[in-house]
Amino acid sequence: MLDSPQPTPGASTPSEPTLDQQALATALSGQHFIGGRFVPARTGRTFAVVNPATGQEVARAADGDAADVEAAVQDADAAQKSWAKMPSRKRGALVAQCAAVLRDHVEELARLIALETGKALRTESRVEAQVVADIFEFYGGLGGELKGETVPFAPNVLSVTVREPLGVVGAIIPWNVPMLLMALKVAPALVAGNTVVVKSAEEAPLAVLRICELMNRVLPPGCFNMLSGFGPECGAPLVAHPKVKKVTFTGSVEVGRIVSKAAAEKLIPVTLELGGKSPMIVFADCDFDKTVLGAVTSMRFTRQGQSCTAASRIYVERPVFDRFVEALAAKVDAMVMGDPLDEATDIGTLISTDQFDKVSGFIKEGLATPGATGRAASAMPSDPALSKGLFIRPYIFTNLPDDSPLVQEEIFGPVTCVFPFDDVETVLAAANGTEYGLAASLWTNNLRIGLDLAHRLEAGLVQINQNLVVQANLSYGGVKSSGLGKEANLESMLEHFMHKKTIMVNYG
Ligand code: NAI
Ligand code: MG
Repeated sequence: MLDSPQPTPGASTPSEPTLDQQALATALSGQHFIGGRFVPARTGRTFAVVNPATGQEVARAADGDAADVEAAVQDADAAQKSWAKMPSRKRGALVAQCAAVLRDHVEELARLIALETGKALRTESRVEAQVVADIFEFYGGLGGELKGETVPFAPNVLSVTVREPLGVVGAIIPWNVPMLLMALKVAPALVAGNTVVVKSAEEAPLAVLRICELMNRVLPPGCFNMLSGFGPECGAPLVAHPKVKKVTFTGSVEVGRIVSKAAAEKLIPVTLELGGKSPMIVFADCDFDKTVLGAVTSMRFTRQGQSCTAASRIYVERPVFDRFVEALAAKVDAMVMGDPLDEATDIGTLISTDQFDKVSGFIKEGLATPGATGRAASAMPSDPALSKGLFIRPYIFTNLPDDSPLVQEEIFGPVTCVFPFDDVETVLAAANGTEYGLAASLWTNNLRIGLDLAHRLEAGLVQINQNLVVQANLSYGGVKSSGLGKEANLESMLEHFMHKKTIMVNYG
């Protein structure tokens, strides 16, 4: 490809925040971060990082394999011994200090993530960078909360539990919100006294590598290590490594199963966040305009629908169905698709040609379904510089049968299906009628119905009259095929990154 930057032999990244995302991408090229420093892959191999808005290569990433995993895990294991001995509030304070450094770099990280993922700066990338700093700040304050219990057992016996870290945590992350999904794993793991090796997603290795470098300015070397590479070659050996005592994964159901099996073989705990097919249920008595806006944000059209909580099935009570579909289409029409780094842009690109082909396949299938209607909204960008960009016009489908793959499977693209409904029991059965159970939202002013359904929906997170993204302090995670275990709150740190030891003292 033209204009491909060459990998640098040893990274010389800027010491101050930079707004030159291309220079930063070039400086980060070809490196893992292991034991407190940048190192290339043992094989010297690299792979391309592509800007999906232009199709141009913007950097090379170190192509990790089992030898790199070995080096990173050994360093993480060595560092863990003294990290775990540090008073937990001091560990928390260091993590909070990392949050402050990240806060200073929000704009830099936002531009870098926009470059490598095609996510629009204003609506997506900047928001992600801010939430990342929030997550580290939140967990940084929880160092004093690693408490155990006293357990009444017998006279003259003092029985207590203490919490201990697990050791080295292996974290495998996807490309859609890589900084945030990584923070949900790294922050609690570190505060709990573990050290971490992250395997980044092959499509988006740069911003998370920069975060690792920035946090290593504060943390002792070896506590937080970053590898880039492909799943089978770099992710699988990380999961299988005997010194990795816990695996936490976000990605597809298919790979989640593979990771879970490999962890079971070693008898280690695993946390899985595997996506969804989240229903949004709209009653005729809702606040109509707020709900239409809610559908736009719930569906994450600004991220081309590449969200595990995307409201990809919208059920609307029949009296307002037609009006709702029209209003939703009009709102999406008004959104600007374009250069992710342009402040005027609402919607950026899809991540990769693989995703582009997958999403296009779903749209084709929907359009070919007898009786179904697919309405394209917004408009393709006209800038010739973006002619190779992975833009897809958002689609709103109606009249699809319940068993259509568009209704049952996670599309991970800007495609939503809207259905009319007449009664509560039928809509509840439809909403619960997929293999997923991550999130759901209800839009009504009748709290009796809202709360009743909130209890009966099969989902890890139900919101009434709002649909916020992941927030610190709110438990996040799915049921059914959407995953195992929760993230983002205190309990997830205590339950998923520590074990409880019972100590009994007989003083009789
Ligand atoms: P994926 O599940 O293949 O990749 C996620 C991570 O797992 C990446 O870091 C990848 O390198 C790693 N990985 C792949 N194979 C592995 C293995 N054998 N052992 C260990 N690690 C491995 O997801 P992909 O292919 O990027 O996307 C496919 C679909 O997955 C999407 O269309 C979407 O439906 C879903 N997805 C869900 C996400 C979520 O947030 N829950 C995020 C990304 C994708
Ligand atoms: Mg895959």
